[in-house]
Parts: sequence; structure tokens; C-alpha cells
Amino acid sequence: MTRSILSFCLVFFLPFVAIAQEINEDDVDLYNGRDVNIVCAACHGELGQGGNKGEYPRLAGQMRSILIRQLRSFRDRKRINIPMLPYTEERELPEEDMIDVASYLSSLRIDVTIPYVEGDVKAGKKLFKDCRKCHGKEGRGKEKKGESNKHGPALTGQYPSYLIRQMSNFKKGIRKHEDMEETAQDITDEELNDILAYLVTLERHPGLAEEVEKENERRFGTVINSLSETIKASGSGEK
Ligand code: HEC
Ligand code: HEC
Repeated sequence: MTRSILSFCLVFFLPFVAIAQEINEDDVDLYNGRDVNIVCAACHGELGQGGNKGEYPRLAGQMRSILIRQLRSFRDRKRINIPMLPYTEERELPEEDMIDVASYLSSLRIDVTIPYVEGDVKAGKKLFKDCRKCHGKEGRGKEKKGESNKHGPALTGQYPSYLIRQMSNFKKGIRKHEDMEETAQDITDEELNDILAYLVTLERHPGLAEEVEKENERRFGTVINSLSETIKASGSGEK
């Protein structure tokens, strides 16, 4: 059962770090990334907040290496998804635009809610011990040296329904990754639910709204700030 109107804050809180060696930070254009994102916003939201109850995953704050890897997998038809495919074709999303939009989305800190999950938080915390080595201590993602296909995405702050769907895709072999296919086989629906109930508790963070305001202002000035105001006002993270 979900209690969707609980107002707590989201953030992946990952440092905005350079990961893949092939990316020259001087060439990254966050403003271009913001422009490219206009197309993506139709589904993922203006600030990559995701929506429609997790049909569209949250992208804001996700590790850049993860975003790029997923976009390439959609493009190369390794990860099959009909809605995403046309947006990742080379002529729609050239490599530079892909890097810019991924950098932009990854740099965003947003303050909108995701649905609450009812479950055994204590049991979830225990079960999550098996996930930590790849997804980070608090599920905020983890890089592994030199192996970008081994980086574990941030799970905290992501829509639970999206994560459940991905787990089921790994289980059925629709989405492929050697690290996850086995894990997905071993985990029951109830166990996953408890893990998600635990991850949701990690999002509460008093004072986050103010931090987000400051951070966004520092990075982008007032444009992004007013967008974030709009989103907060309309509560679109709940849709
Ligand atoms: C028509 C709707 C639509 C548009 C437009 C769209 N996406 Fe998506 N996107 C989706 C859906 C649906 C998924 C979830 C796929 C799944 O369930 O496996 C997704 C998944 C993703 C993921 C994977 C996230 C993860 O955590 O694994 C990334 C990255 C992504 N989209 C980036 C983008 C970018 C960047 C753009 C713009 C260039 C874009 N999307 C445009 C619908 C869309
Ligand atoms: C050995 C490393 C490893 C372990 C252990 C692991 N994962 Fe993962 N997980 C990954 C990697 C790598 C990916 C990204 C796969 C890809 O690129 O498609 C991933 C992806 C996922 C996704 C999809 C996220 C998204 O944004 O699309 C979910 C959900 C997930 N893992 C849950 C779990 C849970 C829950 C556990 C513990 C029970 C766990 N994982 C344990 C490495 C691991």
C-alpha cells in the first residue's frame, strides 16, 4: 500500500563528479543539456523528477555514468524500451548532447516527493546489506574503479514502482546485467518491498528544501529556481 501524499524530500546527494575518462569536462555544456532536456521533460518532467507514479523514472541526481550507459543501451537495443528508443537514435541525440543532458540531469538537486512504501523497514535494512557493496551504503549509488558498467545506480529517491518493474525485468531476463540477474532471482516480492520501505526512510532530510534552493541558485541562477518553485507548487512529483 502506498501513502502517496506524505511530504518528504528527495535527493540522491551524489557528488557531481567526473567519472568516465573520455568526457572532457571543459566540453560539457550544462545549458545545452538543459535545452536538450526539453524533449525529455515531456515524460521525465522539467527537472527530471519523473512521474506518472514511476512509469517515467526519476533522472535528477542519478549518477552521470549510469544515465549515459542506459541511454547507450537503449540506442544499441541492448535495453529494450519502445518509448525511449526514438529519443536515443544518433540523429536525435548525438553523443555530445547525450553527455550534456546526462551531466545536466545528474547535477540537479530537487525537492519533490515520491510515494511512500509500507513495509518492514527493519527487515529491509538488513536485506539491503547485500546490495550495499554495489549500490552504496545508503543506496545513493556507487562507482567502481575503471569499470563503468559495474557502477551501481542510486536507488534511494527513485520511484519504488519503477524499481519493482526493473527487478521483475531482470528476473525475466528482459533487462540484462550479470550483476543483477542472479540477485533478482534470489529476492522475493516481499523482501523487495521491505527494502524499498527502508530506502524511502533514507530520504527524509530536514532542511533539504533550503539546501536545494541554494544549490540550484549557485549552479544555474534564477531560471532553474523558478522551475523548482513551479514544480513544488504543483506537486508534480506525486502524479
Ligand atoms: C515518450 C516518453 C519518454 C521520453 C520523451 C523520454 N523518455 Fe526516458 N524513459 C521513458 C520510459 C518509459 C523509461 C523507463 C523504461 C523502462 O521501464 O525500462 C525511460 C527510461 C529512461 C532512462 C533510464 C533510467 C534508469 O534509471 O535506468 C534514462 C536515462 C532516460 N529515460 C533518459 C531520457 C532522456 C535523456 C530523454 C530525452 C533525450 C528521455 N529519456 C526521453 C520514457 C521517455
Ligand atoms: C554485484 C553488484 C550488485 C549487487 C550486489 C546488487 N546490484 Fe542492483 N544493480 C547493479 C548494477 C551494475 C546495476 C545497473 C544495471 C544496468 O546497467 O542495467 C543495478 C541495477 C539495479 C536496479 C535497477 C535500477 C535502475 O535505476 O534502473 C535495481 C532495482 C537494483 N539494482 C536493485 C538491487 C537490490 C535491491 C539489490 C540487493 C538485494 C541489488 N540491486 C544488488 C549491481 C548490483
